[in-house]
Amino acid sequence: MLRPVSATSTGAMSSSDNKPAQTLADLGITQTDQVVSLFAEVRARFDSQASRPLDLPNWEILRQSWIGRKSGALTLITENWLNPASPDLKRSVGQELNKLKAHLEATLEERKLDIESLVDQGASIRERVDLSLPGVIRPIGSHHLIRQVFQEIEDIFFSIGFSVVEGPEIETPYYNFEALNIPEFHPVRDDMDTFYLELPKGAPTPLLLRTHTSPMQIRTMEKQKPPVRVIVPGKVYRRDNPDATHSFAFHQIEGLAVDTDITFCDFTGTIEYFVKQFFGPSVKTRFRPSYFPFTEPSVEFDVSCPFCGGTGTSAGGGTCSKCKGAAWIELFGAGMVDPAVYGFVNYDAKKVSGFAFGIGIDRLAMLKYGIDDIQVFFQNDVRFLRQFP
Ligand code: DAH
Repeated sequence: MLRPVSATSTGAMSSSDNKPAQTLADLGITQTDQVVSLFAEVRARFDSQASRPLDLPNWEILRQSWIGRKSGALTLITENWLNPASPDLKRSVGQELNKLKAHLEATLEERKLDIESLVDQGASIRERVDLSLPGVIRPIGSHHLIRQVFQEIEDIFFSIGFSVVEGPEIETPYYNFEALNIPEFHPVRDDMDTFYLELPKGAPTPLLLRTHTSPMQIRTMEKQKPPVRVIVPGKVYRRDNPDATHSFAFHQIEGLAVDTDITFCDFTGTIEYFVKQFFGPSVKTRFRPSYFPFTEPSVEFDVSCPFCGGTGTSAGGGTCSKCKGAAWIELFGAGMVDPAVYGFVNYDAKKVSGFAFGIGIDRLAMLKYGIDDIQVFFQNDVRFLRQFP
């Protein structure tokens, strides 16, 4: 009687790879019919592996494992089943082996063509993509209003020959105060209470978050001989409690122009040009005496209220809510550079003169765009930000 033989159930081939493990004699195969069904099992095993979805790398693994020259299943069947076969069985094993080989090669070739044609199809689908279809829109956002106002002001000053420099937000007291003619214990320091960094003992100098952009006046003049014409946009810090008009971080643009022949007229003319460019040609400017240790004389620049046309009265006849009826709005501090400052940077105070100004950007942005709470600049609520695309 024919014994049922299974290449897998008999252990004729190992279950993890396709290697015939034993000789026919070991498997107890003595008759031609058994040889035929053994090969049928092997073939079925191959067919099941070849019918799985394959990509090229997996196809190559399959090929190696069946017809690879060194250790593919065919080679090992030849070595383990054919070569040691008894003379009675040799002929049928040889025939079955040849049939199996033909089947493996044909099927592998077929599968390879299938895979290649799928790859080609993918490519031709890609070629057929309609480029005129609208793409996926990814919102890219926009500049923060503060950045936009910086840009607006920078452009105005570019147009009259200023260039931009930037400097560190962490400063030494020398640049933030002393070299700006603000010695220790000067009362002005009280208005500029700031954040000091915690440093290791023995650090050569204390460090603080700059309270204004004015230190860059010093750093610029240290590096550069006159003529100097720069503006310095940047972030500054003070120990203020947050409310509608105060924030511990805010923004300024410093301005500095120094040359051998700069007069008070150049100063007021420049500021007036800037203010009219920024608020419109119909505004008027005025200055009032003020005090800053690094300018002499020092002034406070005002602009006629751009909202009520400098009348102090709103369109409805009531008090203008922007200037509170004053008709003028205080803009920023400025002045002619104090000769004492030149002493810190090796400029000859007898030969050079110049002016400086410090514009609070948040304040200007609030004024121009009708914003009544400085905190919205820092909260980054997109419902606010989207209003300034
Ligand atoms: N640094 C001053 C401040 O933050 C502003 C200022 C006033 C700057 C007058 C100047 C200036 O350059 O000339 O309060």
